[in-house]
Amino acid sequence: MALIEVRNLVKKFGEQTVLNGVNLNVFEGDMKVIMGPSGCGKSTLLRCLNRLEGISSGSIHFRGKEISHPDMDVRALRQNIGFVFQQFALYRHLSVLDNVTLGLRKLQGMSRLEAKEKALLQLARLDMLTSADKFPGQLSGGQKQRVALARSLAMNPAVVLFDEPTSALDPVMSREVAELMNRLHRENVTMLCVTHDLQLAHQISDKVVFLDQGMVIAEDTIDHLSEHHPNEKVRAFFEQGSK
Ligand SMILES: Nc1ncnc2c1ncn2[C@@H]1O[C@H](COP(=O)(O)OP(=O)(O)O)[C@@H](O)[C@H]1O
Ligand SMILES: [Mg+2]
Repeated sequence: MALIEVRNLVKKFGEQTVLNGVNLNVFEGDMKVIMGPSGCGKSTLLRCLNRLEGISSGSIHFRGKEISHPDMDVRALRQNIGFVFQQFALYRHLSVLDNVTLGLRKLQGMSRLEAKEKALLQLARLDMLTSADKFPGQLSGGQKQRVALARSLAMNPAVVLFDEPTSALDPVMSREVAELMNRLHRENVTMLCVTHDLQLAHQISDKVVFLDQGMVIAEDTIDHLSEHHPNEKVRAFFEQGSK
C-alpha cells in the first residue's frame, strides 16, 4: 500500500483551478521529485498533503486513511508528514537546540531532558552538533536548512516534504543539501521534494514527476524527458541546464 495516495485531486482558489486531477503515489523509502514551472501548483500540492489547504475534490489517503475524514487527527498527521520549507522557518530568537526541541516538547509532550537528547541525536546525524547553542542568524543558509531538517526528523515523520529546499542557497550549499538528502534516502527516509532546480533534481533522483497546468503530465527519467518526451514544453523544460 502506498504511504500517500493522491487521486484526482482538484484544488481551486475561487475561479482559478490550480490542481486539476492530480494522481500520485508515494511509497515507503521513495525519494520522489516533482518538478514544474513556477506557479503550476507544486507548493499548493504539498500544502494539501498535510491539510494546510483544504481540497476541492478528489482524495488524499495517508496510510490508507482519507486525510479529510472527520476522525483524522490533524496534529498527528502533521507530525507524520514533516515539512521543510525554502526559507527554513526557524525561530530567530531560539537557539538551534531549542528550535529542534520546541516541537518535541509542545507537540509530543516530551520532558526537557528527553527532548534535548532526541534533538542532539538528530543534530549529530546532520553534522550540526557543534552549532547546537548558536542562533539561526549565526548560521549559513545550508546550515539553517540542516537545522530545519533536524527539527523535522526529530518528530520521527513517516515522510518529509521539501518545498524548494535549495532555492535560497548558492550552488555549493545546494550540493550539500542534495548529498544530505541522498544519505537520508540510503537510510530509508521517505521524501517528496518539489523543486524547479534541475541541478538538484539530477543530484537526488533519476526520475521526476512533471506537473503542469494542474496535472501530472509525465513521470520518467530526466534524460528521457529532455530528449524523447512528445510534448515540446516538457522537453524544453528539461533541456534548460540539463547539460
Ligand atoms: N492561498 C492562495 N490563494 C489564492 N491563490 C493562491 C493561493 N496559493 C496559491 N495560489 C495560486 O495558485 C497557483 C499555484 O501556486 P503555487 O502552488 O505556489 O505554485 P508553485 O509552487 O508551483 O510555484 C498560483 O497561481 C498562485 O497564485
Ligand atoms: Mg512553490
